[in-house]
Amino acid sequence: MRRHDPEVRGFASDNYAGVHPEVLTALALANGGHQGSYGGDVYTAHLQEVFRGHFGPAAEVFPAFNGTGANVTSLQAVTERWGAVICAETAHINVDECGAPERMGGLKLLTVPTPDGKLTPELIDLQAFGFDDEHRAQPQVVSITQTTELGTCYTPEEIKAICDHVHQLGMSVHLDGARIANAAASLGLPLAAFTTEAGVDIVSFGGTKNGLMLGECVVVLDPGRVRAIPHLRKMSMQLASKMRFVSVQFDALLSGDLWLRSASHANAMARRLERGVRAVDGVTVTQRVESNAVFALLPREVSERLQKRYRFYFWNQSTGEVRWMCSFDTTEQDVDGFTAALAEEMTADA
Ligand SMILES: Cc1ncc(COP(=O)(O)O)c(C=O)c1O
Repeated sequence: MRRHDPEVRGFASDNYAGVHPEVLTALALANGGHQGSYGGDVYTAHLQEVFRGHFGPAAEVFPAFNGTGANVTSLQAVTERWGAVICAETAHINVDECGAPERMGGLKLLTVPTPDGKLTPELIDLQAFGFDDEHRAQPQVVSITQTTELGTCYTPEEIKAICDHVHQLGMSVHLDGARIANAAASLGLPLAAFTTEAGVDIVSFGGTKNGLMLGECVVVLDPGRVRAIPHLRKMSMQLASKMRFVSVQFDALLSGDLWLRSASHANAMARRLERGVRAVDGVTVTQRVESNAVFALLPREVSERLQKRYRFYFWNQSTGEVRWMCSFDTTEQDVDGFTAALAEEMTADA
C-alpha cells in the first residue's frame, strides 16, 4: 500500500528523491537465479570495465553501501595509525558523519575554514606542517569534495594544483564525489579530466544522490598509493553480500548517459531556481550556483512560512542561510511553483 504522494517534491535534499525508473528496471533485470555473493557476480565483474572506461585502465572499483562508509574506507586506505586528514571545515566528513572518520577510522581531521568549500594549496598549508613532530598527528591525505558541500565546483586546474602540491609534500588526495556527476555536468568534461588526469588517488563515487536506490563506490585511481581496500571495506561494514544489486545500479547509471543526463538536469533546475529567486526582492544568493544547490539568505520568518509549503533546510542556523537542492526528478513546474510561493511569502511579510 502506497503511503506517500508521489507528486510531492521539495528542495530539501537530492536524497529525498526516489529511484530513477531506469535503475529500477535494471534492478529487476538483475534479479532471479543465483549469483556469487560478496562481489563474485557478473554485474560486479562488468563494473570494473565500466569504471575503467570512465577513469582509465588503472582504476579499480569497490562497491559500498553509502557515502560515509566509502569515505571512511578510502581514508583508512591512504593513512597509517598516526595519520591525519586535512579537509575543509565544511567537509561532509567533518560535519555530517557523526565522527565516523575519527571513531571508526581512528583518523584525526585537521580542518581549514574556506569561504566557498574549496581548498587551495595555500589553505592546505595552514595544516600541512609538523611532518617530523612526533607530537602531531601526521597529515597524510587531503580530502576535497567535488562538487563541494556549498555547491561550488573545482576546475581541473585547481584540482591538479592541489594534487601536485599535496604529492610534493608526500601526502595523498582523496576526492569525496558524492556529487561527482554534477561536477562533470557543470564542467562539461569527462570524469577522468578532473580526477585521474589531475592526479587524484582515490574517489568516493556517489550514486545515491543521482538516482540510485543506494550505493556508492570506492574507486582507486593510483593503486601504488592505496592499500588493503578489500579488508578495510569489510571492517568498515561496507561489504554487501548481495553486491550484484549495488553493482547493477552503477551499470545502469554509467554504461550509458543516465549519470550525465540526470546530473545535467538537476544542475539546470538549480540554475532556473537561481534565476527565479534572484528576481525576488529580499533574497541574496550566497554561493556561486555551479551544481544542483542554491544557497540563499532571506528573512527567517519567510523561510519558516515557506517551509510549511515546501521541504528545505536551514544550512546555517545562526545566519538563517538556507540550502535548496534540486534532483534528477525536479521539474520546471516545481521550480516555478517554489519561486512563486517564495515571492508570495516575501510580500506577505511586508
Ligand atoms: C559531500 C557528501 N559526502 C558524502 C555523503 C554521503 O553520505 P551518506 O553516508 O549519507 O551516503 C553526502 C551525503 O549527504 C555528502 O553530501
